[in-house]
Amino acid sequence: MKNIILDCDPGHDDMVAIILALSSPEINLLGITTVAGNQTVDKTFNNALKILTLLGVKGIPVTRGSEKPILRDLKTAPEFHGISGLDGAELPEPKTMGIQTNSIDFIVDTLQKSKDKIYIVATGPLTNIAISILKAPEIKNRIERIVLMGGAIHDSNITPSAEFNIYVDPEAAKVVFDSGIPITMVGLDVTNRCVFTFEEIKTLKNSKKSLSRIIGHLLWYFAQSNLKYYGIEGAPLHDPLTVAYTINKDILKVKEYHVDIETRGEYTTGATVVDIYGISGKNPNAEVAVDADVGMYKSMIFEAIKFFEKSI
Ligand code: BDR
Ligand code: CA
Repeated sequence: MKNIILDCDPGHDDMVAIILALSSPEINLLGITTVAGNQTVDKTFNNALKILTLLGVKGIPVTRGSEKPILRDLKTAPEFHGISGLDGAELPEPKTMGIQTNSIDFIVDTLQKSKDKIYIVATGPLTNIAISILKAPEIKNRIERIVLMGGAIHDSNITPSAEFNIYVDPEAAKVVFDSGIPITMVGLDVTNRCVFTFEEIKTLKNSKKSLSRIIGHLLWYFAQSNLKYYGIEGAPLHDPLTVAYTINKDILKVKEYHVDIETRGEYTTGATVVDIYGISGKNPNAEVAVDADVGMYKSMIFEAIKFFEKSI
């Protein structure tokens, strides 16, 4: 069983990451810490609470975190996730309030108090994680690994050279990648291959089970945005791949590379500069996803949805 803190900005694909983490007997979810990214932190926090209410899950701490990146103004992604951050279906109003502790205090306290090492799974901008490391550097050796969705070797989605999560807070990403903590970078080269097709989403939308229908409608919305902006025929499920890999390492093929974060580019701010040929002579600081078992991944997600169908 792996102890994890899931730091996220729900977000359609973050929602599926939460569902996968909560359904897995391999995962002990210590808390969901939210951050500004796909939407303001008020909205991502509220969305996390709504997701737990939808699933009927109680007792998982949910915290509100950073309102903006370390140095920059916040850039959100309403064109992909809508005004609420989770457009496409009506979710129940939260029955739980979350906890009052800030995400950063929660991350630091939990790591300091735990006798076992903890995985940080990060599916939004890395602001909360970076500030936690800067605030309490001793937590670094309490972290088993940071498995993050962000960046790419070659691909991009928010500028011609950057992926959204890294682009929103590149200074935070730099702190994380330079920290010496073991890192798995799950980037767009691989996540863009993990597409739930319109047919698969239709099956969810047409289900007799209300949870599947709601998830189907949410993913339909996300798929339409991806079709409009990138011509992708379905919903690329970026974020849950981090959780899937934490559950089962067979899901990804990874390679060790050095990754630098561009923070001062004229055109390339937020790029993950992945040294695939070892040209820089720098030692690897991350394992980088280069391929995924898409069939296995989709099965895991469908199983996770079924798990909650039974319980609600
Ligand atoms: C990432 O950006 C967000 O919009 C998604 O939730 C995912 O974390 C993909 O670039
Ligand atoms: Ca996300």
